[in-house]
Amino acid sequence: MASIRDLVPGTDTLDVTWDDGVTTTYLWLWLRDHSHDPETLHPVSQQRLVFTAGVPADIAGARAEVVDGELVVDWVGGGTSRLPVAFLERFRVPATVPTRVDVERELWDSTTIYPTPSVPYDEVMGSDEGTVRWLREVARWGFALVTGTPATTEATEELVKRVAYVRESIFGGFWWFTADLKHDDLAYTNTELLAHTDGTYSHDGPGLQLLHCIEFLDPVGGDSTMVDGFRIAAELKAKNPEAFELLSSFSVPGQYIGDGAHLMSSRPVFRHDQTGELVQVSFNNGDRAPFLLHPDEQRAFYDALRAFEELANDERLQWVHVLQPGEAMLFDNWRVLHGRKAYSGTRTLCGAYLNHEDFESRLRRGV
Ligand code: OGA
Ligand code: ZN
Repeated sequence: MASIRDLVPGTDTLDVTWDDGVTTTYLWLWLRDHSHDPETLHPVSQQRLVFTAGVPADIAGARAEVVDGELVVDWVGGGTSRLPVAFLERFRVPATVPTRVDVERELWDSTTIYPTPSVPYDEVMGSDEGTVRWLREVARWGFALVTGTPATTEATEELVKRVAYVRESIFGGFWWFTADLKHDDLAYTNTELLAHTDGTYSHDGPGLQLLHCIEFLDPVGGDSTMVDGFRIAAELKAKNPEAFELLSSFSVPGQYIGDGAHLMSSRPVFRHDQTGELVQVSFNNGDRAPFLLHPDEQRAFYDALRAFEELANDERLQWVHVLQPGEAMLFDNWRVLHGRKAYSGTRTLCGAYLNHEDFESRLRRGV
């Protein structure tokens, strides 16, 4: 841990110089807002209790010193705040808070995704280390299989619950499906599904999806496909910046009509955060709601869509595999696009959606 070498008070700031020579300037107001006393910060929930707007904008420290690993500030006009030096150290450099989990993404194509990222079921179920290993693979590659999963809905549901609680949707919570049109969705047929993400009609599209093919009798076709949406983004940005720009800014509407519902949402295919980092890829051509633009804009939209869809369905970028009973697949629906080839035979899948923040939370908690 770094230690504090020097404190220099100013009018509305405190300069903290660390033992390696780095100086951080904190506003007195920031120090008051982040005080760790129990009236300011709830000691258990870590939630802020102070009414920040009620703190005078010109609040100033009368005295500041380091005592037993804490910065102690006595305020002009009364009151004392304490902030752990370890806490201040986390903010030595002004920056927005990174909320992404601490796992590097590996952008892949059909030459680098094999052998398929996989973890054995017994390992995932048997220890926190195994569960976290699985989730780290998903964070790294965008998806990973769990091999040796008993081919039952019960075992699959147990597997999902190693990660988080199940997210409810129009399809229920934990679901299973076959080609019986039980819901008004192409998933419940045996036709081909081109590369897509689920839930472009939800404001908060499902974060992750688990799919487990628990039965495939007389199988013909039915290959599962997967493509790395972040890899598509990188390639498009380099080769066709106009298309990348359009798909990063134009909000594409998605809809679900059926089962007594009419869900609608819209967002760009490439959604970026306020720092410009790509955070989500959403694309579902089947669920795109109709809209009409002026001819020039409409042409530009179709050009960009074509560029994207060609990449999303390019074998050069695809992982292709007929899922076998026992292979449960967890994938990041904000990153990879999935699909399946047309098939005949009796094919039953079960699975669930999870929220992205719950997946991230499980990773952050670790073992
Ligand atoms: C879906 C889907 C894939 C499959 O249900 O959205 O993509 O393998 N299914 O049936
Ligand atoms: Zn799908």
